[in-house]
Amino acid sequence: MKAIIYDAATIQRRVAEMGKEIAKAYPSGDLLVVGILKGSILFMADLVRAIERPVQMDFLVVSSYGAGKSSSGNVRLTYDPAIDLAGKHVLLVEDIIDSGRTLNRLVALLGARRPASLAIAALLDKRIAPEPPKELRFVGFHAPPAFLVGYGLDYAEEYRHLPFIADLE
Ligand code: IMP
Ligand code: MG
Repeated sequence: MKAIIYDAATIQRRVAEMGKEIAKAYPSGDLLVVGILKGSILFMADLVRAIERPVQMDFLVVSSYGAGKSSSGNVRLTYDPAIDLAGKHVLLVEDIIDSGRTLNRLVALLGARRPASLAIAALLDKRIAPEPPKELRFVGFHAPPAFLVGYGLDYAEEYRHLPFIADLE
C-alpha cells in the first residue's frame, strides 16, 4: 500500500454527516437501508448508527468482479433482500462507484419491485462512470481514479477490515 487516502477519523466525520443528510431527506415513511455485500459492510454499520430515525436493514449480494481489478460488466444477484421493497423508501448502500455498471443493473432490477423511492448512498465515487446512476443521491467522497482498499474495499478479499482507505499500488 502506497498511501492512506482517507484516515479513520476523516471517514467517521463524513459518515456522521451523511447520516444527518439522510435522516433529513426522509422525514416520514418506512426507510429500508440495503447494503450491497461485502464491500459496504463497514460503511453500512457506521452509517445506520448515524441515521437518527427508524430504519430497517437488509442486504444483497451481487457479483460483478472476480479477483481482478477491472469490472466484468457481469452482474448477478446471488442473495436477494428478504424484506419486501414494495411501498418503502429504499436506500442502497454501496462502497464505491467505478464504471457504474453494477448499480445501473441493480437499480433496474430493484425498481421493478415498486419501492416508494429508490436512492443510492455511496461512500466513494470515482466520477469516471460514463452513465452514473441517476438515483445516486448521497456521496461521501469524490475518490481519485486509483484502486483503493480498506474500510470494506478489498483486493482479492484482502484489506477489507482496515479502518482507513488506502491506495493499493
Ligand atoms: P462498477 O460496476 O465498475 O461501478 O464497480 C463497482 C464495484 O467494483 C464496487 O462495488 C467494488 O466492489 C468494486 N470496485 C470498484 N473500484 C474499486 C476499488 O478501487 N477498490 C476496490 N473495489 C473496487
Ligand atoms: Mg462492491
